[in-house]
Amino acid sequence: MPRLFFALWPDEAARAILAPLAKRTASAGGGRAVPAANLHLTLVFLGDVPHDRIGLLSSVASTVRMSAFDLSLDRTGTFRRTGVAWAGPSTVPPALEALQRGLDRALRDAGFALEERPFVPHLTLARKLRTWPPAGPFGPAAWRVDGFSLVESARESGAYRDIGRWKPGREI
Ligand code: 2AM
Repeated sequence: MPRLFFALWPDEAARAILAPLAKRTASAGGGRAVPAANLHLTLVFLGDVPHDRIGLLSSVASTVRMSAFDLSLDRTGTFRRTGVAWAGPSTVPPALEALQRGLDRALRDAGFALEERPFVPHLTLARKLRTWPPAGPFGPAAWRVDGFSLVESARESGAYRDIGRWKPGREI
């Protein structure tokens, strides 16, 4: 069964800021940097989804309204329970909240079982940290969000690939 999640990808300029930050954070904390190509911000984590539900997932995503918005990741933080360091926005754009809420609601209404934990927008930089690098402002890494993706996480390689992408008003 494919392991899936909905996510935002940074653009190349933002990735060029985030990738070295991930490396620095990992070496400061004795952990593993997320590879540059995998840096993303999760909207909704689905976990293992049977192949025959992917069509439904795509049609649900197509019903979700979104407007484009600017996103600025400008501070780092940690989730100590899971050993993760992340980059996040100090101000969460209302359009990001609305997109995440709309997607979450539409998926639940269609019968997908999702986690109950509240949405804390973050882009994971490094995992398996042993010590805690100081949290604080950086960058920022900013980009215009003009779509979201349904991403498959390959179990063996750890690579991510888009299996669907939606822009304001249409699937592409
Ligand atoms: P994380 O980066 O904070 O670990 C793919 O695994 C993406 O889904 C990651 O961004 C991960 O968040 C997120 N995710 C959310 N809930 C998850 C879970 N229960 N297991 C694995 N990943 C999860």
